[in-house]
Amino acid sequence: MPRSPEQAYAELTQRLKTTALLESCSSVLGWDEQTYMPPGGAGHRANQLSLLAGMCHERATAPETGDLIAEVEGTHLAADKDSPVAANIREARRDFDRATKLPRRLVEELSHTCTLSQQAWITARKQSNFKQFQPWLEKIVGLKREEAQCIGYGSGVPYDALLDAFEPGMTAADVTRLFTPLRDELVKLIAAIRDSGRQPNREIITRLFPTAAQREFSIAAARQIGFNFDEGRLDTAPHPFCSGFGPGDTRLTTRYDEHHFPGAFFGTLHEAGHGMYEQGLDHEAYGLPTGAACSLGIHESQSRMWENFVGRGRPFWKFFYPKLQQAFPEALGKSSVEDFYGAINDVQPSFIRVEADEATYNLHILLRFDLERPLIAGDLKPADVPGVWNETFTKYFGIVPPDDARGCLQDIHWSGGMIGYFPTYALGNMYAAQFFDCASHELGDLPGAFSRGEFGALKQWLNEKIHRHGRRFRAQKLVEVVTGQALSPQPLVKHLHQKFDELYHL
Ligand code: CO
Repeated sequence: MPRSPEQAYAELTQRLKTTALLESCSSVLGWDEQTYMPPGGAGHRANQLSLLAGMCHERATAPETGDLIAEVEGTHLAADKDSPVAANIREARRDFDRATKLPRRLVEELSHTCTLSQQAWITARKQSNFKQFQPWLEKIVGLKREEAQCIGYGSGVPYDALLDAFEPGMTAADVTRLFTPLRDELVKLIAAIRDSGRQPNREIITRLFPTAAQREFSIAAARQIGFNFDEGRLDTAPHPFCSGFGPGDTRLTTRYDEHHFPGAFFGTLHEAGHGMYEQGLDHEAYGLPTGAACSLGIHESQSRMWENFVGRGRPFWKFFYPKLQQAFPEALGKSSVEDFYGAINDVQPSFIRVEADEATYNLHILLRFDLERPLIAGDLKPADVPGVWNETFTKYFGIVPPDDARGCLQDIHWSGGMIGYFPTYALGNMYAAQFFDCASHELGDLPGAFSRGEFGALKQWLNEKIHRHGRRFRAQKLVEVVTGQALSPQPLVKHLHQKFDELYHL
């Protein structure tokens, strides 16, 4: 007797859940590699991780998985397109197709090249020597172009195939439509801030902030906004990240600089925002698309919201500043909350993306997007990247990068094969602004709540409106479902104006 669609679906979900379980083992090993592993463990760890990667890829591309998906597609289970079951089938198909379109040879070559290329990049950046990295960038661009060919793109734009890996359903044309008006507004805003002649005193946040107290304060703030430490923890890593191992275990990392308070603190809020998304996913659906994060852009919207829209706001510090002064009496005992607020929101063109303020940050992303598209289209040669980078940077920021280490060599992404990733950072800021705007309307007096240290209403709103859906809707649809509007740069522009017009008397 042939099995029913229900039986086939049950078997499919079982397969997907087992694959996710296996994948989550790599997360534990990856987290350990970045936090506690002694240097001598690197070789053995690489072997462990590549074995797991191979096993996961094999499971993800197994013909049985494809047969099961085909068996349930087109049945009554997939009839209601927005139902969780139909979404699981739709997204399982997407994942299966993407995985099987890539020949094993290409997957292995990419992985191998990227491992070596990252080593070359570390040295090249240290010596600020682009020529050393150039052959690797050429190799990677070549392989990524090949990947785009394998994945395919109906639009005629190969970049779309790469972007789709990080932000499913979004195209370069969509991004351009969103980024162009944002860029025009940002360039004007940043020029107005520069011309205002006002400059907050940044010295405040570079005084001595002992590490132990920073850690304690960061943990207390992450707990207060709603990160659950019974199901997570905070450790130290050279490059901060958040890793959701699975239900009940989400790891955050940060790094400390005793003479730069915002680094670890806002880093922790940022990663806690990612972590609260992971903690808010539907644990029953773990391993299925509806139990996984929607897209990188949506993930980033959660971190940016807590870091910037909440954590860099006045109401937040109305509650936390007296506590901060108690924690750091030497550094802040005599400084006002206004001085501190100005210092943590100072807008200033700078060379390094990860150190950029809320306004200039997005221009860093637009610049990378401007370069990635022609690189993948074949219109920009890797050899010409430094020149085009510096030219575009100067046009956007009005300052000239002094060397490639502070220019086109600063980010790890290209050396790791992550071309198409950058746009998700600025998209994350746009999603965050639009969601926050909507939450503010629906929840009433959020500033009042924040100034009393109450963050539960916003957290619950995010849990219900965004986290619980997982990948049920694609990101563009999710925004419409939640806010009633298509994604637009306007809420972000409005937010930045409200904040900086007041701060800089524009
Ligand atoms: Co992030």
